[in-house]
Amino acid sequence: MEKNTFYITTPIYYPNDKLHIGHAFSTVMADSMCRYKRMRGYETYFLTGTDEHGQKIERAAKAVGKAPKQHVDDIAVGIKHLWKELMISNNDFIRTTEERHKKVVQKIFTHIYEQGDIYKSEYEGLYCTPCESFFAERQIGEGRVCPDCQRPVELVKEESYFFKMSRYQERLLKHIEDNPEFIQPISRRNEMINFIKSGLDDLCISRTTFSWGIPVPNNEKHVIYVWFDALTNYISALGYGTDNDDLYQKYWPADVHLMAKDIVRFHAVIWPTILMAAGLPLPKQIFGHGWLLLDTGKMSKSKGNVVDPLLLIEKYGVNSIRYFLLREIPAGADGYYSEEALVQRINMDLANDYGNLVSRTVAMVEKYFDAIVPAPICVGNYDNELLELAKTLPDEVANFMDKLDFSSALGAIWRLVGRANKYIDETMPWALAKDPEAKDRLGTVLYNLIESIRIVTVMITPVMPTLPGQIWKQLGINPTENENWTATSWGGTKPGQKVSKTQALFPRIDWKDMSNEMPKNSLPVSNEGSEVKVEISPLLTEEITIDDFAKLDLRVAEVITCEKVEKADKLLKLEVRIGEETRTIVAGVAKFYKPEEMVGKKVIVIANLKPVKLRGITSQGMILAASNGDDLELLSVTKDQLIGCRVK
Ligand code: MSP
Repeated sequence: MEKNTFYITTPIYYPNDKLHIGHAFSTVMADSMCRYKRMRGYETYFLTGTDEHGQKIERAAKAVGKAPKQHVDDIAVGIKHLWKELMISNNDFIRTTEERHKKVVQKIFTHIYEQGDIYKSEYEGLYCTPCESFFAERQIGEGRVCPDCQRPVELVKEESYFFKMSRYQERLLKHIEDNPEFIQPISRRNEMINFIKSGLDDLCISRTTFSWGIPVPNNEKHVIYVWFDALTNYISALGYGTDNDDLYQKYWPADVHLMAKDIVRFHAVIWPTILMAAGLPLPKQIFGHGWLLLDTGKMSKSKGNVVDPLLLIEKYGVNSIRYFLLREIPAGADGYYSEEALVQRINMDLANDYGNLVSRTVAMVEKYFDAIVPAPICVGNYDNELLELAKTLPDEVANFMDKLDFSSALGAIWRLVGRANKYIDETMPWALAKDPEAKDRLGTVLYNLIESIRIVTVMITPVMPTLPGQIWKQLGINPTENENWTATSWGGTKPGQKVSKTQALFPRIDWKDMSNEMPKNSLPVSNEGSEVKVEISPLLTEEITIDDFAKLDLRVAEVITCEKVEKADKLLKLEVRIGEETRTIVAGVAKFYKPEEMVGKKVIVIANLKPVKLRGITSQGMILAASNGDDLELLSVTKDQLIGCRVK
């Protein structure tokens, strides 16, 4: 019978400094995976922790004038706090300085030593302390820097214990070749195969020139190599080799060891060979995701380009940060971080696409059905396409999530969000509402929309864990009926539910307000400070009456999408929302506004202007702007609740 358990681990982090947003990626991904597996009915176990020994930590502690234990104690508190703020639902947090861990490391060392796979000799070679990694001369270039992090390596010459890793080379290669899923994605698998084929040396697994580590049994002059120590956390946390090894029996072998690509080598070579020597089963999968990069390269403290995740959570909220990380880093590849890209994702995907869908739909159920969800009793045009997608999508999304491809999973979910928004434009509920005969049809349209929102929300639960609570409240849905993946089936919404609109789920962010700390060159060009000669046209003398003015239907409209009009330098094509209705407007403002700056603006539209065709597009209105010919600014309001209101 297939084992219905799922064990996932993240790397355990070096507590030598604060973690940055790049570090958070593995942990957010593992957490989302675990939440997804729980929704699928798996008994899950999720482990993370801190890797507290080694020369690097010893030096870092010395640099701040602390004893190593005090130093790691202080930083581990901050790491645990960060995971809490990021809604990480780990079952255990292991620290390698804990007794439960040390005992297991020593036990495995002794076992391998006694069977003759560990011997004492002298190590003379190169060592990268930041990576805690040994290198042979042939692996180091002329610059004598670490091939991984490019920092200088140190020459090390000391008595050491060696693990006969070379003995396991062929067995490991065969295991990788026989088990295509063992190392993923495929690019990492190929890298590892090449690396192993180039020849495995025996591995130096003890050090004598510093003391911050787990002592080698019966020879306290040596401390165990920090990677041998750290990798063992994956089983020491399960109680392996102790009187209570229930968790080990239940969860080992791990389903996934998740990490960034730079540490795949340790997991795909050192760890399996240790397990082989110890006679233990190998993990089922080692998954090496890409890095989160900045335009200045990989985020790292030494480059001074780190981004503090706590600040981002405080500024933008945990759901948005988790969404951004998983949407932005494609499976196995690198992804880019910039605060502007984050704000754009929040505005476009969350506020605009998803948030608007929810608020428009709930507002229409309130307005046309006294907030009671109607029954779907009148099938009509466009239903098929929406329902077909909603019914087939959960399997497609599950397929991506099973492969840890969250970026594609979220992309697929947003296809349904987009489809539902389009369905509103196609079915035009506001027009149906004017026809008493069309009441059942209107009810069906709104039911289909509520149901689509429900399915989308169930599917994004693993990534945005606190979002569903807010949605279920608005839709009047029972949360417990929507906790499992089976709730993605069509039909879970019950007619008769009472909806209630709350404030905007993802208020739109004005990038200009948020970007004070951004480098000047990434900001939109502004004329501020320069002397602009304004030519004011003479005031009109012809008077109009208040009735003349009342003929103008001026409305507050929200810009939902905006794009350039092809082959027309000055024109932008906008989709605007006036209440529940959407309109297309072509505006000659491309010289002054980028399309992405327009989205989310609440502009003033002349709504009853006779439509005109511009470059083949029917423009159903005009937006108001102040202009002196050289400069232009759109008239706008800031309050969401004014969308659709008349301007008088
Ligand atoms: N202590 C070791 C892991 C031992 S596991 C038995 C370690 N720690 S670390 O704190 O340096 O890194 C933890 C993880 O964060 C690693 O997978 C590392 O590659 C990852 N990342 C660090 N910077 C990153 C990005 N900018 N982007 C994505 N992941 C990043 O390595």
